[in-house]
Amino acid sequence: MSYFLGIDVSTTGAKALVIDERGQVVSSATTPLTLSTPKPLWSEQDPHEWWAGVAASIRNALQQANIGGDAIKAIGLTGQMHGLVLLDAGGNVLRPAILWNDQRTGAECDEIRRRLGRQRLIELTGNDALTGFTAPKILWVQRNEPELYARGSHVLLPKDYIRFRLTGVYAMDKADGSGTILFDLKQRTWSNEMLDALEIPRSWMPPTYEGPEITGQVNAAAAAQTGLSVGTPVMAGGGDQAAGAVGMGAIAPGVVSLTLGTSGVVFATTPSALVEPEGRLHAFCHAVPGRWHFMGVMLSAAGSLQWHRDTLAPQSSFDALTDEAAAAPAGSEGLLFLPYLTGERTPHPDPLARGAWVGLTVRHGRGHLTRAVLEGVAYGLKDSFTLIQQAGLGGIDQVRASGGGVKSPLWRQILARVLDVELVTVNTTKGGACGAALCAG
Ligand code: XUL
Repeated sequence: MSYFLGIDVSTTGAKALVIDERGQVVSSATTPLTLSTPKPLWSEQDPHEWWAGVAASIRNALQQANIGGDAIKAIGLTGQMHGLVLLDAGGNVLRPAILWNDQRTGAECDEIRRRLGRQRLIELTGNDALTGFTAPKILWVQRNEPELYARGSHVLLPKDYIRFRLTGVYAMDKADGSGTILFDLKQRTWSNEMLDALEIPRSWMPPTYEGPEITGQVNAAAAAQTGLSVGTPVMAGGGDQAAGAVGMGAIAPGVVSLTLGTSGVVFATTPSALVEPEGRLHAFCHAVPGRWHFMGVMLSAAGSLQWHRDTLAPQSSFDALTDEAAAAPAGSEGLLFLPYLTGERTPHPDPLARGAWVGLTVRHGRGHLTRAVLEGVAYGLKDSFTLIQQAGLGGIDQVRASGGGVKSPLWRQILARVLDVELVTVNTTKGGACGAALCAG
């Protein structure tokens, strides 16, 4: 029997997952990671902690599967997208990674729009400049930490730092590369126009590969730390959303994947480099060669329910709360919830958007408040879903749902009715790591 390893560097944990050659999950292990917010709006992690976590999880997953490193035929990588890892010429980490949920770069986003022109930016990269993406983070270091910037030599994304530690090679997949917004979306490679406009040296950007291509082999140092065999091929893989879509089977137009985690994501494969003309959807390369995708991202989806529970009903379980919500009628008797507790990305890109319950009366009880949260999130997702429906992709046959929120039958039913689609769940919940292992296979 051959096995494949998927590695996922998420914001909360470093995961290693082993699948067999039929795609069945055999074992998985996660090492928790810490997040640092040294200033308001900042969100950072230490790349060395990612590597230590990944190495521990690999050893653990191999042990649980009761196999040696030589049984692993290939490795696929995935992880949190958009995070900036800046290295010097010797491959040393120059500063903590600036993550996807860091909001410090509002001024740099304005500057990127000013230099390129918003329409040209969207036409070229598929996207408007948003604080989450990598390009404004590089510009921020250039403008705010010039001495450190002067020592820069390599830009990587989180999972590609793990690739570097596994293989010694600087490389990136095209899905994550496009999430930097330094990519020419149509050409699936670095855009000289973008790099020149932002005065970022072309030599800093690594070669990029399609998801299932080999980028390097496990080296002796990494083998000693992980238990893997020297020479095991490491495939490109993809950012967590693209790899997660592979894990969900969302690899062709017609099957949309919906993830109801802290954030909420609707993901639709596109056959060419389609762009939403106003940049209200993200448009990136897929981890599937020669395919692209649209993506709508809400920042507080199941995160809204979590906040509601933690703040107003800390003693209640999620099941107890959603049981109360089920007793309230559809529409929550006129009560609306705006789920913008951490600002918003698509289709209302505004870090200053805010949440609210609107329309409260004395008739409303906690069940109504909860139901309004579930409904508000469903309508927030519908905003992006409607843009996807209008994008000329043809019919959407099925929406495949995953993430903690879809454990609730009530929330699934609300989503199916609000989106007016057939909504199905899938039998693996390991998301990106599973997709990365499938890319390796
Ligand atoms: C996608 C995004 C998040 C991160 C978090 O655009 O920002 O999904 O990848 O893991």
